[in-house]
Amino acid sequence: MTGEIRARRLHADAESRLFEGVDITDLYETHAPAQAPAAPARQVGGLLVSLRGVAKSFGERRVLEALDLDIPAGQFLAIVGRSGGGKTTIMRLLAGLDAPSAGSITIDGKPVTGLRPEVRLLFQDARLLPWQTVIGNVGIARQPGWKQEAARALADVGLGGRETDWPAVLSGGQRQRVALARALVSRPGVLLLDEPFGALDALTRVEMHQLLERIWGTHRFSTLLITHDVAEAVALADRAVVLRDGKIALDIPVDLPRPRREHADPAAARLQAAILKEV
Ligand SMILES: Nc1ncnc2c1ncn2[C@@H]1O[C@H](COP(=O)(O)OP(=O)(O)OP(=O)(O)O)[C@@H](O)[C@H]1O
Ligand SMILES: [Mg+2]
Repeated sequence: MTGEIRARRLHADAESRLFEGVDITDLYETHAPAQAPAAPARQVGGLLVSLRGVAKSFGERRVLEALDLDIPAGQFLAIVGRSGGGKTTIMRLLAGLDAPSAGSITIDGKPVTGLRPEVRLLFQDARLLPWQTVIGNVGIARQPGWKQEAARALADVGLGGRETDWPAVLSGGQRQRVALARALVSRPGVLLLDEPFGALDALTRVEMHQLLERIWGTHRFSTLLITHDVAEAVALADRAVVLRDGKIALDIPVDLPRPRREHADPAAARLQAAILKEV
């Protein structure tokens, strides 16, 4: 077994241990103990995310090198890079699922030391609990009033009326909408998206882009979108960062009017070309 394969297996093992059983929900929702009073509604809006000199190594392999990056409150940032370039690693550090080898990460001025309720994640696969209905998946925290909150989040993603369906009967795009509703229900200050639309067909992907742009426009959480897809980065983000060899190779504003037109926009095509050159 090569070092690369072994590293990937170890990675997958660690990941599956994290996602085993009901604990999977800890990645998305902070459980309030059943008797705990409802958390006060969070202010809607984004939080400042700061990375200072952040490095990450796995054994001998240096994946990230002294990254300095600020995501201002409410900004929509896309990170683009080749496979294995360390994009998911950054996201796991920001989510508090892993710790940097050097440097510091703060969100809203507080060091990231573990999972936090105001930081939410969305992965390529929706990771719904098959034994929970749609509304049960969204409202897992079970705080007082959770059903109304969950129903509102579902309506927000265009799934009003599907509350009692089981995940198995949903399409891939609908599952991702449920996962998005689950992330949104607790009004995150930071939304981390790791290739969330990569498995969807092109039309559904464009629909999800429009949905995400609208929801982000309303709630203004700080957003980090990780993607291979340069067109997706230009369609959604305020700013695109190219990650290459563990460093930032390009950091460019995406100064295009919203809502974005994804096709036949020469300004978007020029930006895509500039980013592609650096990937
Ligand atoms: N827990 C781990 N143990 C060992 N190596 C790891 C671990 N996590 C990530 N790596 C290695 O770090 C490198 C970056 O991985 P990462 O998952 O961050 O890449 P990525 O940019 O998200 O790639 P992709 O676009 O394919 O998802 C890879 O070489 C990977 O093998
Ligand atoms: Mg990845």
